Amino acid sequence: MLGIESSCDDTSIAVLRGNELLGQFAAVQHIHAKYGGVVPEFASRAHQAHIVPVLEGALAEAGCTLEDVEGVAYTRGPGLQGSLLVGSAFARSLAWSLKVPMYPVHHMRAHVVAHWMADAAPNPAQPMMALTVSGGHTQLLEVRSPWEMDVVGTTLDDAAGEAFDKVAKMLGLPYPGGPEVDRLAALGNPTAFQFTAPKVAGHDFSFSGVKTSVLRVVEKALAQDHSDSDKLVRDVCASVQATIVAILIGKLEAAADEKGFKAVAIQGGVSANSGLRAAVQALGERRGWDVHIPPFRYCTDNGAMIALTGQFAAERSEEGRLDEAPMARWPMG
Ligand code: KG4
Ligand code: ZN
Repeated sequence: MLGIESSCDDTSIAVLRGNELLGQFAAVQHIHAKYGGVVPEFASRAHQAHIVPVLEGALAEAGCTLEDVEGVAYTRGPGLQGSLLVGSAFARSLAWSLKVPMYPVHHMRAHVVAHWMADAAPNPAQPMMALTVSGGHTQLLEVRSPWEMDVVGTTLDDAAGEAFDKVAKMLGLPYPGGPEVDRLAALGNPTAFQFTAPKVAGHDFSFSGVKTSVLRVVEKALAQDHSDSDKLVRDVCASVQATIVAILIGKLEAAADEKGFKAVAIQGGVSANSGLRAAVQALGERRGWDVHIPPFRYCTDNGAMIALTGQFAAERSEEGRLDEAPMARWPMG
């Protein structure tokens, strides 16, 4: 099964046999860094330039040819329309020309399905509360199987990754800021600053208050003292990461408790964050719960999660059609 992912700025293609990864190849787009965010028009042009070499790279890694391909899965949405158009038109044309089935995949489902990859063992074996944290989304999901999941909470404003990226921008760190904040947080004091954590009822999230609170603290600290701005940046990174992680973990634990689930999971780009990974592990140990954290190669957007979602669709005979257009907005239901 081929999996073609092009919903945002990464072009990633993977080849799977069952749930085993045979090869994966990706092209990252650096052009967006100087704009401090993904520019949709540049993203779709870069996908066009990358998609054929990325396919060739994935097949070479897997040691196979197009004749071996039995199905083509692709991200139908949600995502940037132009980016989705490139991947989905390419994938559907390829499947049609190879005379194999095509499988349109929901990107947010695929992030969760990544927990069933052979090398993401142990695979989930009971219902779990799963938290998808990425640049565009923050979702709490009740997950019963790779094809049965419901969103029970979401962000009212910024996504968790967006909060990391915006704080990084305030501190003058390069884009995307999440990994930079993570790196500097390890060198700072997480209790140096207290940022306001929002009070949001139920299972929903809000991060815009944290962002404003960071801005105030940084402005005040800079006005008072210019002596050690590197230390200030490290301490702000450590404190803001601790705040965001505490919000995420608090909601995850409460939702799992409410359902009586004894397993939790994180997935999506921000699940690469070392503070979040450690906190979820600690939660599992404290409560005696199973914890599922994907290997790094399945955290950020990747072709493997798309291919595996296609495999599950194939098992259920849920084939797609040539005339299915991309869906930039596509609710999970
Ligand atoms: O899932 P993803 O690759 O793309 C989207 O679908 O959005 O997530 C990208 C997001 C960015 O906001 C990036 O800053 C964040 O994930 N991210 C991190 C880390 N690595 C990636 N945030 C915090 N700590 C990290 N180590
Ligand atoms: Zn994603």
